[in-house]
Amino acid sequence: MTFARRVVVLGSTGSIGTQTLDVIDRLRAIGIEFDIVGLSAGHDSVTFRSQIDRIQPRFIAVATEDDAAKLQADYPLLEAVWGSEGLLRLARLDDVDLMVNAVVGSVGLEPTLAALELDKSVALANKESLAIGGELIQDVLQKGSGRLLSIDSEHHALYRCLGDRPIGEVARLILTASGGPFLRTSETDLSQVTPEQALKHPTWSMGKRITIDCATMVNKAFEVIGAQRLFGIDFEHIDVVIHPDSWVHSLIEFVDGSMLAELGPRDMRIAIQGILCHPQRISTDLARLPIERGLRIDFEPFLQSKYPAFGTVLRAAKLGGSALAAINAADEILISRFLNRAISFPNIAAGLRRILDRWSQAIQPDEPKVNLKTLVTADAWSRDEARQLVF
Ligand SMILES: NC(=O)c1ccc[n+]([C@@H]2O[C@H](COP(=O)([O-])OP(=O)(O)OC[C@H]3O[C@@H](n4cnc5c(N)ncnc54)[C@H](OP(=O)(O)O)[C@@H]3O)[C@@H](O)[C@H]2O)c1
Repeated sequence: MTFARRVVVLGSTGSIGTQTLDVIDRLRAIGIEFDIVGLSAGHDSVTFRSQIDRIQPRFIAVATEDDAAKLQADYPLLEAVWGSEGLLRLARLDDVDLMVNAVVGSVGLEPTLAALELDKSVALANKESLAIGGELIQDVLQKGSGRLLSIDSEHHALYRCLGDRPIGEVARLILTASGGPFLRTSETDLSQVTPEQALKHPTWSMGKRITIDCATMVNKAFEVIGAQRLFGIDFEHIDVVIHPDSWVHSLIEFVDGSMLAELGPRDMRIAIQGILCHPQRISTDLARLPIERGLRIDFEPFLQSKYPAFGTVLRAAKLGGSALAAINAADEILISRFLNRAISFPNIAAGLRRILDRWSQAIQPDEPKVNLKTLVTADAWSRDEARQLVF
């Protein structure tokens, strides 16, 4: 079986980006070719240069003009671009049919929209863009023939469990959550936890932002919002359950009471491969889950009161407009303040709630219908507010 696809990988140096390149190598080893036309990273780094040396893409993008100039001087045969315009250039390349978007943060939204507007396929790890710009993304999808597939183990599990059944047969989508590093930490002890502890995810190895988002459950709220948008189902039909071992990546309960779950190793490459080759299942040499050796599967209730940020993010989703853009930007700032030891861990959730309250008073009343400009304005406003919050 061979099919050639021309791809760009945004965020190629990150956790998802490097695993995507690894999956592409494994597929190539069995005769499935992906031509990597472009790569992007935040900055010039040893990892990025070694990817460029190995893959020899025609285009690269980085965040700053200085880094782009250095790379251009050292790699005169390729075209180095920079900033958000650089990401857009990669998203719009004529001869590319698949864009993997694995950048972190709101910078991922515009390239997602741009690629979909040109009817390309987008393999989207950047869940922030689906949360913030969900309405705009839906609009583009409805008007054209672009295709959006989420690289998230939970969403991938839901695609697999749903199969070809209509969404009307679904009673509930049930997303699993490990509970993060503080599942067993008492609420009083949470104010003492350190960045090092928060960055130690019990089951997955990921970038810093998403790891802290797992500890606060902002990440799970983004996944719930993503599921609502991807599957076109009400929030009332999406639940979260704690499953500390992360073997079950998500479940569907159907209207007849039967449930389907997707299980597998804790390896994002299975979801990445599933999305790159969607809808085919392909045999590569990724590790399997040896259930015959014995495997306990435990579920526990998800106590929302322990994770107040979860409720705040969902409240923002229901308020609509630019509320999630404000929340996402504040989350980035509050996480970096926590990692710099300027605020405590519970202050991330407290800060998000205060930002959302302020957004409802200062921005929401006069906000026009959501568009890219309102999202960018709310993002900048929220970053400023979050930097100044005093706890
Ligand atoms: N990791 C997972 O298992 C996982 C699972 C599901 C979904 N996701 C989602 O996937 C996305 C990426 O997560 P990750 O864990 O791979 O993050 P990560 O390891 O922090 O990687 C982020 C990538 O984005 C690049 N980047 C950062 N700032 C940028 C900017 N301003 N412009 C362009 N590129 C920039 C980074 O480049 P540098 O290396 O140069 O900084 C890096 O390549 C996030 O939205 C996350 O929520 C991740």
